[in-house]
Amino acid sequence: MKAVAVRPGVPNSVHMVDAPPPKLSDVPNGKGVLVKVLKVGVDATDREINEAKYGAAPKGVDYLIIGHEVFGIVQEVGANVRRVKVGEYVTCTVRRPGGSIYDLIGTNDMTSEETYYERGINLRPGYMTEYFVDEEEYMVPMPAGLKHLHVLAEPMSCAAKAISQAFEAQRRLKVWRPQRAYVMGVGQIGLLSTLILRLRGIETYALARSPAPTPNSKIVEALGATYVSTRETSLTDLAKKVGKADLIIEATGNSAAAFQAMEVLGNNGALVWVSVTGGSASTTVPTDKINLEWVLGNKLLLGSVNGNREHFEIGIRNLAQGELTFPGVIEQILTTPVRGLDNYQEMMRLLCEGKHLKVYVEVAEG
Ligand code: BGC
Ligand code: ZN
Repeated sequence: MKAVAVRPGVPNSVHMVDAPPPKLSDVPNGKGVLVKVLKVGVDATDREINEAKYGAAPKGVDYLIIGHEVFGIVQEVGANVRRVKVGEYVTCTVRRPGGSIYDLIGTNDMTSEETYYERGINLRPGYMTEYFVDEEEYMVPMPAGLKHLHVLAEPMSCAAKAISQAFEAQRRLKVWRPQRAYVMGVGQIGLLSTLILRLRGIETYALARSPAPTPNSKIVEALGATYVSTRETSLTDLAKKVGKADLIIEATGNSAAAFQAMEVLGNNGALVWVSVTGGSASTTVPTDKINLEWVLGNKLLLGSVNGNREHFEIGIRNLAQGELTFPGVIEQILTTPVRGLDNYQEMMRLLCEGKHLKVYVEVAEG
């Protein structure tokens, strides 16, 4: 069976492997689900994995099958599977449990262990292949009416988690009604976060470097948010003009920007960092000023990674509501299809070019 893999530790090692086809019996107790892969999305994490900045192979093999954003159709189910049916569209979560108490209660995204297991990223094989098998527990049904949004379910789960976590954490305030949000970065996570914030009726400013119009700025505006080019209006000028933010989702992939965001959060606000930065950049920050303002303003900094099944489900509901509220807008994120696993070099080239909002592979028709 065809699968696209890298050799972790070796830069630019993306290649095709002939992987053994999965079987239902790979999962014990009749709980296995066999999925035919239809589409797989790639993002900055896949790029960093191919640059050997990130990721590890499963024990005992020297390659890692990549791909963690999957959309497929159920082919076969084990005797004890109840939640999903043959012929249904599904996506599948990424994290697998370790041994901490958070893993034991199904919140693998919150593991307290240093080692984490993620399909297509760390220590577990990914989905960029023809078929995969996993436990029913990790399968998330996708309504047929959202089929055209396919691989967005996984990034949406990360955005849904980030925002749900902010609301969870802000229960410390007894009442929290954020009115103004900044979203930093207009890649897929930034845009999907903008969607969720707009569905909550929050005045949202999405920031990126390029002056409008860009495909991304058009999506921002179509979601009823305001696009701000930081080349034209700096972060601090924006804060002076419209006021500091009650909530900031930082998704630029630039760690310096993540720290700059700390200077424009309002009192009692929450700043959520969601970028995974695999490099080794460093910068200087005005520590006295930030420390003072953060203490005097009771501000909160939150890191958010991954999304568990519940976040996938919330994300899918948000996509459905998004389709009704902003028809035809969300699919504009899905800019750049690549046909077939055989074209994996082209897929990586487009991903590395950095100018495509979303690259994904059409693995099979369905
Ligand atoms: C994935 C997450 C994952 C994170 C860290 C992201 O690209 O979408 O599922 O937890 O990388 O590895
Ligand atoms: Zn990702």
